[in-house]
Amino acid sequence: MNPFAGRVALVTGGASGIGAALGAALVAAGARVLLADIDHAGACDHAGVLAHSGSGSGTASAVSLDVTDRAAFAEVVANVVQEQGRLDYLFNNAGIAVIGNTLDMAPSDWDRLLDVNLRGVVHGIEAAYPVMVAQPEQAGFRGHIVNTASLAGLVPVPGFTGYAMTKHAVVGLSVSLREEARRYGVRVSAVCPSVIGTPMADTAQVLGHEELLVDRTGRPSWLPNANYCARKALAGVRRNKALIPVTASAHIGWRLYRLWPGLLRPVTRRLARELAPVPEQH
Ligand SMILES: NC(=O)c1ccc[n+]([C@@H]2O[C@H](COP(=O)([O-])OP(=O)(O)OC[C@H]3O[C@@H](n4cnc5c(N)ncnc54)[C@H](O)[C@@H]3O)[C@@H](O)[C@H]2O)c1
Repeated sequence: MNPFAGRVALVTGGASGIGAALGAALVAAGARVLLADIDHAGACDHAGVLAHSGSGSGTASAVSLDVTDRAAFAEVVANVVQEQGRLDYLFNNAGIAVIGNTLDMAPSDWDRLLDVNLRGVVHGIEAAYPVMVAQPEQAGFRGHIVNTASLAGLVPVPGFTGYAMTKHAVVGLSVSLREEARRYGVRVSAVCPSVIGTPMADTAQVLGHEELLVDRTGRPSWLPNANYCARKALAGVRRNKALIPVTASAHIGWRLYRLWPGLLRPVTRRLARELAPVPEQH
């Protein structure tokens, strides 16, 4: 059975990367998709492409949304419910990355990470969860909240410390809310990809030694792409998995860290050396 056909799905960060691929896969599966992004032009372009792609029976439209704006998120969800009658899936996917030595983090860097990666998810839940709890059940299903966390939400990732902080919080939020929400027929999952080839590699904020840390000359072709990530994420959503690691390295890294955390130490030491080099002033 296709659980997405005819369903209403809101995807934040839907203009680019994993969010854009989730939108495409959901439309192909017959969902009515709203791509919500701070990059409104990008979301409109992508919705236009999906509308004319002829893949699947779903529909796509776009809305401007800054997930850090609690009132705006509430308004978007209220409009979806008014226009579509319900909201079946919320993909809290918008996110940003900051890379480098924690000694180089400015207060505004912490705030930005918390505002987009964590509060953005909280705002989505505040707006959508009560709606899902209150809407009529359809075949044992009231709604599904899918939060894009990261492998960095399951294991330590030096050089991504602030980012990992927000993603660990998203994992904790997801697995805890999942247990509360179960009794209402609302599902909650967290998607945990390792590195995926998306524009995030180009837009990530780099602290300090930009040239040492990031090669922006292109994404390695061997990296799994956003379409692969979306396919794996939706397979996990279909099976109502609590945590959905995406890629073999995410599965292996997560399991190794749970069973023998010390085995990951050579990797985390190398990451600390490469991604969090000692700042010049220290
Ligand atoms: N690319 C990876 O390697 C990777 C790995 C693990 C997890 N993730 C997570 O996947 C999610 C998507 O990342 P991506 O790689 O597709 O990145 P991306 O940069 O391609 O897409 C992110 C999208 O979020 C939007 N966005 C940023 N701030 C926003 C805001 N305040 N309000 C609304 N939209 C906003 C951007 O405009 C963009 O369209 C993020 O949560 C990211 O942390 C990415």
